[in-house]
Amino acid sequence: MEDKDRPIGVFDSGVGGISVLRELYKIMPNEDYIYFGDSINAPYGTKPVEEIRRLTIANVKALLGQGAKGIVVACNTATAAAVRRLREMYPKLPLVGIEPALKPAALQPGHPRVLVMATPMTIQGDKYKNLMARYEDKADIIGLPCPGLMEFVESGNTDGDDLKAFLFELLSPYLRDIDAIVLGCTHYPFVRTVITQIAGERVRIYDGGNGTAREMRRRLAQAGLCTLRTRPGNVVFKNSMETEEEIELSRTLFQKK
Ligand code: DGL
Repeated sequence: MEDKDRPIGVFDSGVGGISVLRELYKIMPNEDYIYFGDSINAPYGTKPVEEIRRLTIANVKALLGQGAKGIVVACNTATAAAVRRLREMYPKLPLVGIEPALKPAALQPGHPRVLVMATPMTIQGDKYKNLMARYEDKADIIGLPCPGLMEFVESGNTDGDDLKAFLFELLSPYLRDIDAIVLGCTHYPFVRTVITQIAGERVRIYDGGNGTAREMRRRLAQAGLCTLRTRPGNVVFKNSMETEEEIELSRTLFQKK
């Protein structure tokens, strides 16, 4: 098979990265994809950084072993913990990570108040601190660690009453004068509707999935690795949980409106 026609490997600590896969598929519908969710080891966001790095490197190796021509680290936590190491290991590989979409939120006019929802690990990491330092004169930025939130999505719950109560309690102390919310974990776009219901339509919500997908398209084009096929691409879902339910949940999230 020509290098151009090999699949793009995408992975996350679980099913969250499917929010990024959807953006990839929207702009590169003729590419094939292998999506790996490491649900058995989820959550990553409350683990020590060395462990996240080890798991992340293993995921990349496995996807390359399955013939991936490039890798999307569709997890903010894994990106924060391991992307620098991965770039050292694979300098020529088209490899793109994701980070909270703070830039467009902070550059909203009028010195906005921005709430960044992410895992504890992402908020504590140097990568996030550097990102914040770049925009702190443009906006008031509050980092909100959300342990426990990704678990709802992992269990397929994206609009239950218990999820609504959880999010209401988490967000209500900040809602009075927030202008924007950044979804800094790839699981959170799946609960965006509930977040909007709680925060109100006035609050703009940002996520980095589309920007990450565009960056991957750019990197593949640079490397001459975009497929020339015109048929719709195949998406293969794999999960360390290895159950049919998990794959079914993955497909459902991929197709969710
Ligand atoms: N989806 C992951 C992220 O973007 C993290 C969820 C977790 O494993 O804690 O950060």
